[in-house]
Amino acid sequence: MRGLVNEHILKLKPYVPGKPIDEVRREFGIKDIVKLASNENPVGPSPKALDAMKKAIGDVALYPDGSCFALTRALAAKWGVGENHIICGNGSDELIHYIGITFLSATDEVISSDVTFSRYESAAVLNNCEYKSAPACRHKYSLDEIAARINSNTRLIIIANPNNPTGTIVTKEEVDRFMAKVPERVIVVFDEAYYEYVESPDYPDTLDYVRQGKNVIILHTFSKIYGLAGLRIGYGIARPEIIAGLHQVREPFNVNSLAQAAATAALEDVAHVDKIRKINAQGRDYLYAQFDKMGLPYARTEANFIWVDIKQDCRPVFTELLKRGVIIRTGDIFGCPTFIRVTIGTMDENERFIKTIKEVLG
Ligand SMILES: Cc1ncc(COP(=O)(O)O)c(C=O)c1O
Repeated sequence: MRGLVNEHILKLKPYVPGKPIDEVRREFGIKDIVKLASNENPVGPSPKALDAMKKAIGDVALYPDGSCFALTRALAAKWGVGENHIICGNGSDELIHYIGITFLSATDEVISSDVTFSRYESAAVLNNCEYKSAPACRHKYSLDEIAARINSNTRLIIIANPNNPTGTIVTKEEVDRFMAKVPERVIVVFDEAYYEYVESPDYPDTLDYVRQGKNVIILHTFSKIYGLAGLRIGYGIARPEIIAGLHQVREPFNVNSLAQAAATAALEDVAHVDKIRKINAQGRDYLYAQFDKMGLPYARTEANFIWVDIKQDCRPVFTELLKRGVIIRTGDIFGCPTFIRVTIGTMDENERFIKTIKEVLG
């Protein structure tokens, strides 16, 4: 590919997705498989979202509404902002991509943290920018380390809060202190994909920064608590000038019509979100108790997954779990080869995971 593909594009590391269930079925000939690898919602979407999709299916011969009118209006009402503060994307992944191409030029620098979501680095590399990864501290983003790396070339800082894969958060106090040090021309992205799972009272209200007119973009998704990962839909909230810039690069029909219908209906089903949150909290406490008994250290999570130190090479453990029909995510892809990340599933799935990992670890 050298000489054919742009040099900086060749530097992009391919995204490593969670292993799909069908692939495990094909490779190992197992039928009964539990996937706890991609932080999906184990219960699925709201029945209201499913109904809305069924109704919308009759219209798939038509292009979707490129402006996501109804969903944008519903989101604006939910967050108490104007519709010009919202942009919808084909997953929040697409919005991370748009943020990169809208705001980055070749001499710019992007800062995020070690042990975090890989798409941030991709956005930097894709735009031929330098990516700086600040050291994390005890499985947490260190905003002080990030602030120490800001220079006149810094354009974008991306903070996953809660972080993937560790599930930890940065607090309101930490974020306030950090924001006071960030120069005006720097855009700060708070990727809040797991927002709805957070229980900590110290979690920051980043919308406050948007209200103050700061260069802040908040990302949310329907892939996690809303259980719509397969439809690919997420959204961003920012001041209108930022949103208008992102719309400049948006594909005309980037969010499909089923996704728009399902997401709009899902927003109304607050009871379903509460139910998922409760199931997640029960599963989390069960898994904590089991890891404690097994003597495996883990990071306390504010999301729907747990980052666990299995104190041995995660790759063979991953393979042995796969052979027994349990898919998890290995820590090596995040630079931590003795860690695994396990999504909190239904209680049956959690129990199956624990039984299997006990078998594998011996
Ligand atoms: C922190 C974080 N941001 C963004 C995403 C992408 O979500 P989406 O499905 O909306 O593209 C994920 C998915 O795992 C994630 O963990």
